[in-house]
Amino acid sequence: MTTIETPQASPTTDAEKQALLSVRDLGVSFRTEGGEARAVDGVSFDLFPGEVLGIVGESGSGKSVTSLAIMRLIPDPPGKIVSGQIMYGGEDIVQKSYPDMRDVRGNKIAMIFQEPMTALNPVFTVGMQVMETILTHEKVSKSEARDRAVEMLEKVGIPEARKRLKDYPHQFSGGMRQRVMIALALVCHPNILIADEPTTALDVTTQAQILELMLDLKSQKEDSSIILITHDLAVVAETCQRVIVMYGGKIQEVGTVEQIFTDPKHPYTKGLLASLPSTSEAKQKRLYTIPGNVPALHEMPEGCKFCTRCSEVVDRCHSEEPPVHQLDSGQLVRCHLFEEEK
Ligand SMILES: Nc1ncnc2c1ncn2[C@@H]1O[C@H](COP(=O)(O)OP(=O)(O)OP(=O)(O)O)[C@@H](O)[C@H]1O
Ligand SMILES: [Mg+2]
Repeated sequence: MTTIETPQASPTTDAEKQALLSVRDLGVSFRTEGGEARAVDGVSFDLFPGEVLGIVGESGSGKSVTSLAIMRLIPDPPGKIVSGQIMYGGEDIVQKSYPDMRDVRGNKIAMIFQEPMTALNPVFTVGMQVMETILTHEKVSKSEARDRAVEMLEKVGIPEARKRLKDYPHQFSGGMRQRVMIALALVCHPNILIADEPTTALDVTTQAQILELMLDLKSQKEDSSIILITHDLAVVAETCQRVIVMYGGKIQEVGTVEQIFTDPKHPYTKGLLASLPSTSEAKQKRLYTIPGNVPALHEMPEGCKFCTRCSEVVDRCHSEEPPVHQLDSGQLVRCHLFEEEK
């Protein structure tokens, strides 16, 4: 086992394989009344071509802020990327100008936002917005763009799509708005799709259809990859190859889906999994919940961010932030308990 400063986060994939996206030491801060709050701290990971990478963790762990940073959409002020690199196609996204980012967003990296209205402009019709995305990135005529828009809206399940092109976002229900946003994200076949809770506002049947549609992107563009952020661990188990577990703005564990679900190492990951409902009778007592709450950002402990709630806490956890340990299995885990394995 080795302790590493900047985890490569490629425990099982071919080390020679070139990452599509490499995030290194990403830090994002927000200016708040209580001072500067570090929402994302020292986050490093790779996204490989063709993979679906899950990010899980309780509310406030920094999942959305990480993905907004990749899109360069951190609201500034109060937020700022304060450290790190986000390498894509040999260039650092953090250093890109805003006009250059227009070229990246949409056809290279697209995002399905947790809040649909973040992506939709209330003063333009839905048709204009989907067509605009197509026309920005592809050389097609207006009528071709209109046909593509209709086809995409139909695919995501908007009834009477051609008629509804003329409607504004507020004329759609919450679930329909989410579908429109998914259409916007997929219409230019991005190389990387970041899906932040893509299906939370939808009913179960539609959820399954939308996930299917997202995965379909990969059959159209084999090397395209997906970052899937969700609270639904069943969805992760079904769709992802690797999983990142976040807590307190930091990556706590990284492993393959199999490793995370059958042999979780970090006490936090174990807690998350124990909270899963089980169908086996023996386990159908009361659902486990991790004790306590996620502390506010300015109240995060100095040492391990999880120490205030950890069942396996030892003294040094309160004062010393654990480094990331890479286990022989390839799993990455940020926890003092794994030091002895060295
Ligand atoms: N605009 C903002 N101003 C101040 N703090 C913010 C802002 N956006 C996010 N934060 C803080 O950053 C931290 C991480 O938030 P983030 O939205 O990334 O959490 P998350 O993991 O996506 O949670 P959820 O599962 O609820 O979506 C939180 O403590 C949040 O309060
Ligand atoms: Mg979020």
